[in-house]
This record gives sequence, C-alpha cells and structure tokens, in this order.
Amino acid sequence: MPKLPDSVLSCHDVNGKLLPDSVLRYAFDQLLTNNGYVHLVNVPESFDHVAFLKEMGEFQPTPTGAVVGDLKPEAGMEDVYHAQNHRSLLPHTEGYEYEGIPPQFLALWCVTPASGPGGETTLLDSRPLLSRLTEDEHHGFLTTPYRWKSTEGLARHGVENTATHPVLEEYAGHVILRYSHNNLIVPEGDEAAVQLLAFCGQLYEESHTAVSYAPRDMVVWNNWRMLHSRNAFEDPARHLKRVQIAAPIAG
Ligand SMILES: [Fe+2]
Repeated sequence: MPKLPDSVLSCHDVNGKLLPDSVLRYAFDQLLTNNGYVHLVNVPESFDHVAFLKEMGEFQPTPTGAVVGDLKPEAGMEDVYHAQNHRSLLPHTEGYEYEGIPPQFLALWCVTPASGPGGETTLLDSRPLLSRLTEDEHHGFLTTPYRWKSTEGLARHGVENTATHPVLEEYAGHVILRYSHNNLIVPEGDEAAVQLLAFCGQLYEESHTAVSYAPRDMVVWNNWRMLHSRNAFEDPARHLKRVQIAAPIAG
C-alpha cells in the first residue's frame, strides 16, 4: 500500500497568513533533510518557484538542454518508455545515464493538474533499502561498474547516452545512489544486480509515497537519496515544470 505523504509543507499558517520567506525556507530545509523530499502546498499565485529553487544551487540542463523544462504529453510518443507521455514510469534516479555527478535535487511544480485518475509523482526513500544490504553487498555496489543507457523516448529524439559506473558512489561526504529499474544493464549471471532490482521493485510497490498536485504545488527531492516514478494518467492537459539542481562543486 502506498504511504500517505509525510513531508507536506503549507505556505500558509493556521490563520491562513502567508509564512514569511525565512520561516518557509527553514521548515523546507528541515523537512528535506529529514525525509528526503518536500511537498509544498497552498502555494500562492505570487510564489516564484524559479527564484525559490535558485537559492538551492545552480540549475543543471536536462538531456535535451532544457534548464526550466516542461513535462506534458508529447504527440506520437505513447508507444515508448518516455517521460513526456501518459504512461507510468518505472522507479529511477535522475541522471544515471551520465558519467558525471547526477543532479542533487529535482523539483517539479504544477501548472495544470491531471483531471481524473493518476498523474501522481511517486517517491521512495532508499535509506531503509540500503540499510538492509550486507557489508559485502554494499561494498560490491560501491566498486562494481555497471552499464546504463538512456530511455527509448530520448533515443527517438536522437539523444542516446550510455555510462559506466557503480550503483553507489561516495561524493563530498554523501553516498549517491544511481538506479534505473529498466535501464541498468544487468550482466549475464550477476545475481547481486538481479536481486537489487527485485528488492527495489517490491519495496517501491509496497512503500512508495504518492504526491497529488493542486495548481502551483511543488515537490522537491534529494535525487541522491530518493527513487522516483510516475503513475499513468489520461488528461492530455496535465502540465508540470521541471528543474534539476546540480551538486555544489566539491572543494
Ligand atoms: Fe525522472
């Protein structure tokens, strides 16, 4: 059963007054650190999503170069695995198909919610999952290089990337998890990878959080810690904006 969202932050206090920017930022940072994500609700029309996110770091362009991108169903793309169609996605972290450090944070905010069923962004904290790995398994995922490929949908637009790196990477005092349920290439006979995919798939199914959108709602998560995905939907008008925030340069 999906969990109820447990990291929701309202832009208004109990009396309906807008929170001062400093209070909102304080509560946002605390929830993001504690839970790995924040779902911002009751967002006023005056809220500047881009300005709020800019304070978190440099924006990192997506594979097609968009800095502030649009997520809406694209014509002729329903038959492939692709972020910009109506179909569900599979659990992943962003940027696994690149050699460099993946974006540290991802943000989606809602221009037009999907009417009717579906369209939720789903999330799962990887910490309980990683804590169940044995020391040997953890070491194996830090040191065994795997091949990763970009999606079928991007390939249709001429974007085809592959990268080679382990599932886990230590970086600037953090452990980065890279994951893709369908684009991690499992070598023949690699039981550890087969079990990881089975375990993550099952845990995602049982324990993910589903975020539903009202207009202007925003969800921000730590992409080094959280897996994310999307439920299928029907409404062609569903429209989200997307920003990726790069890691600070390690000093
Ligand atoms: Fe994604």
